[in-house]
Amino acid sequence: MKKDIMIVTGAGQISLAIARRVGFGKKIFLGDKRFANAETVASIMTDTGFDVTAVETDISSPKSVKVLVETAADYGDVKYFVNGAGVSPSQAPVETVLKVDLYGTAVLLEEVGKVIAEGGAGVTISSQSGWRMPQLTAEEDRLLATTPTEELLALDILQPKNIRDTLHAYQLAKRCNEKRVMYECVRWSERGARLNAVAPGIIVTPLARDEFNGPRGDFYKNMFAKCPAGRPGTADEIASVAELLLSDAGSFITGSTFLADGGATASYYYGPLRPKGDIK
Ligand SMILES: NC(=O)c1ccc[n+]([C@@H]2O[C@H](COP(=O)([O-])OP(=O)(O)OC[C@H]3O[C@@H](n4cnc5c(N)ncnc54)[C@H](O)[C@@H]3O)[C@@H](O)[C@H]2O)c1
Repeated sequence: MKKDIMIVTGAGQISLAIARRVGFGKKIFLGDKRFANAETVASIMTDTGFDVTAVETDISSPKSVKVLVETAADYGDVKYFVNGAGVSPSQAPVETVLKVDLYGTAVLLEEVGKVIAEGGAGVTISSQSGWRMPQLTAEEDRLLATTPTEELLALDILQPKNIRDTLHAYQLAKRCNEKRVMYECVRWSERGARLNAVAPGIIVTPLARDEFNGPRGDFYKNMFAKCPAGRPGTADEIASVAELLLSDAGSFITGSTFLADGGATASYYYGPLRPKGDIK
């Protein structure tokens, strides 16, 4: 019997947790810019009974994304999609954060949306960071949602003069992910498929460790200490949300972003994490 295909991008800890949770019995194509990361995860998973092929993939390159998607689609029906590829504000400059987290995600949602099979489902990982930024105007939200992918990075709000720092770029990227999921889920529905996002809070992974050791380290440590959960989360807790969204139990959920942050955002607005002065 032919296996359902699952495309996974980003061979990081969140992708790995989701792939382990829902990927058994499926054929997984795992793309990462750092091919060694994809090979390592593919090897760990293969040794534990999964069927994984590593593919060198840079999500910020449409050409590279097309190779991954075509490789998967040539094999069979692409039924599942998980995007956990990305860079954090302490890992990369503004241009890279926008090119990978904002533009790269938009490219993926569009390209996978061209082949996703009937009954299929996808999840992309955004971030609580997008929820801490103040509201954008309705027009800015509409532009982030609907601007053709190749024109996204030319939007005025994404120009260097309008971006304070890498954290601001990351917040805009993650806000864009959520708007893009709303926009693309309508196109995915025309193929009988669903698309959602999960917005994690602080999850202990190499990416988060770079944040703990970066310029905002104290801010993040204070955040998880004072959020309602009182601790950072685990990749397995994000996999639990993704499992719901990718399964038939989530069949009425599409175009949605699930915040899974231990209550940090709630505390940021209405609790002890609220900053003095304006939220920005
Ligand atoms: N860990 C957290 O606290 C946290 C919180 C909120 C959101 N997120 C988001 O979750 C996602 C996954 O993060 P993680 O914590 O699992 O990180 P991770 O560092 O474990 O994995 C990220 C993976 O993405 C890959 N990658 C980077 N740029 C790429 C590109 N251009 N093309 C393809 N692959 C690329 C990296 O090589 C790495 O293997 C990211 O989008 C991140 O912003 C993480």
